Amino acid sequence: MENIRQAPIGVFDSGVGGLTVAREIMRQIPNERIVYFGDTARVPYGSKSKDTIIRFSRQIVHFLRTKGVKAVVIACNTASALALETLQPEVDIPIIGVVLPGARVAAETTKNGKIGVIATESTIESHLYNRVIQERNPNAQVFGKACPLFCPLVEEGWLKDPVTVEVANRYLEPLLATGIDTLVMGCTHYPLLRSTLREIMGDKVNLVNPAYETARELKALLEEKGLANDRQDIPADSMYQFYVSDAASKFQRFASSILPFDVDTTRLIHIEDY
Ligand code: DGL
Repeated sequence: MENIRQAPIGVFDSGVGGLTVAREIMRQIPNERIVYFGDTARVPYGSKSKDTIIRFSRQIVHFLRTKGVKAVVIACNTASALALETLQPEVDIPIIGVVLPGARVAAETTKNGKIGVIATESTIESHLYNRVIQERNPNAQVFGKACPLFCPLVEEGWLKDPVTVEVANRYLEPLLATGIDTLVMGCTHYPLLRSTLREIMGDKVNLVNPAYETARELKALLEEKGLANDRQDIPADSMYQFYVSDAASKFQRFASSILPFDVDTTRLIHIEDY
């Protein structure tokens, strides 16, 4: 059997958004293999209940385990907020989400203690960002704002379109009024809107990207647990594998537009079987 260090990392999301997390992992730890699953049949997660998100996430972790992954990254903010705590004790491999790494950095880097969090409705309602930020920085004030229109706009490719700018202005206006100095982009799709968000928030507001912070945390975790891949000669065709629950060619087009290479194979699976 192959050495556990050469086993892949399982990364999953409700759909394409988690590719922003996979992309950061590819950049920061380029010799790690990845098995990515996008739940394109059941997206969006951002408006669903906790019980449903836990059930979906549990099935996906079961599927990823069949691929021999050595660790799991829940690349979806909503699933991280609603399912990570429940799933962690159920699995005997490391499993991390994107909320904690982003929240910690926001709590530690804010100067005036005023932090904005933009995310899906379910993530905002879970109050997990608030909880983690306030545990680290009890004086922090957290202002959450659900931005449900951002995901479809990103998937439409309207990253800098006037319609997106208008929508972003409406969502961010109340946050701007609070005087925040830090804004957490608490949904997988939002880092793709970075330049629009930057323009509206101005240079003085620090934009925290949980995808970037999660890749850093994963790197440290793999090293600490003796799981980091120590070989460079992994065959290119086994580096990255992509699985979805529906609409594989649509997924593939989006993936090829945001990853630094063309995704030529995406496999369709029946996630309800796991
Ligand atoms: N991936 C989700 C998240 O980060 C956004 C898309 C969805 O609602 O499923 O919260």
